[in-house]
Amino acid sequence: MRAAAVIVSDPITVDWSRIPLPDAWPDELDLRRPTHVVAYLRGWLGRRRQVVVPRDLPGAEWLPAYLRQEFHNLPNGVYSKRQAEAYAHWFDRVMLGHTLEARARLAAALADCRATLDLGCGSGGLAAAMLASGIPEVWGLDASPYLLRIAAHRLPGVRFVQGLAERTGFPAGRFDGVGACFLFHELPAPAADAVLAEIHRILAPGGHLVIAEPSPTQFRVRDRRRFLRRHGWRGAYFALMAWWVYEPFVGGWHRRDVSAWLAAAGFRVLGDDVGMPLRFIHAVRG
Ligand SMILES: C[S@@+](CC[C@H](N)C(=O)[O-])C[C@H]1O[C@@H](n2cnc3c(N)ncnc32)[C@H](O)[C@@H]1O
Repeated sequence: MRAAAVIVSDPITVDWSRIPLPDAWPDELDLRRPTHVVAYLRGWLGRRRQVVVPRDLPGAEWLPAYLRQEFHNLPNGVYSKRQAEAYAHWFDRVMLGHTLEARARLAAALADCRATLDLGCGSGGLAAAMLASGIPEVWGLDASPYLLRIAAHRLPGVRFVQGLAERTGFPAGRFDGVGACFLFHELPAPAADAVLAEIHRILAPGGHLVIAEPSPTQFRVRDRRRFLRRHGWRGAYFALMAWWVYEPFVGGWHRRDVSAWLAAAGFRVLGDDVGMPLRFIHAVRG
């Protein structure tokens, strides 16, 4: 058996704000033409399909099948300029600002770190909060180059890497803090296991892992009246979202015993705060 290669340096970074990206099919639609509007609406409202990435898109050759899905009912997912922009603009609004609070809370828990990674950074919201909390060195990693382009425009002080969270390419012990905001519920179980093992590898001993995810509370409403009495219109809104928005792996994520899972992967759990609509987890690498 061949030993795994030891990674000794950071992955090569590029300035994603300057990399030209190919148009994907949603970018080619002319929304003044009724037939294109119909194609676009079918994307929003129709059956979920596989994402089609242009052949010359960076990462097209390694993007796994589970990521090539129309998550969140977005036509072609976050694999077009148009949808990445829409996602970056609307996500926090649709979440009624809870994701902004979540990232501030994650970043505050990492404020004493010297080097942190925003894993599954999307358009860079958590990386921005990490910078704002005074962390000197902040990195971001995501699979979608369209989102990285937006993140890089927004945060010139952050280095962004395109890659998979299950094999980041960073050396062992590279960070003393890793944050993942709304990443794990998007992963099938084997990928989530691989991502957790990778976080354990790139965190230094004693390093912090902070996670924000949608809460299971609005996914498992057993007694509707009690739920509504407790959470009001906001609860009804998030329960409706949980029912409607396409999230192929969220059920598996909610069924996990997260404390046992983290402990088995070599983490000590400091906190697991299950609220509505969010859940926060804080763990330390053993
Ligand atoms: C729901 S979005 C959250 C984005 C961002 N963390 C935020 O707070 O806005 C999930 C992100 O994870 C990324 N992602 C999902 N699976 C990934 C994987 N295996 N490796 C890298 N990025 C991944 C997606 O491309 C997407 O940008």
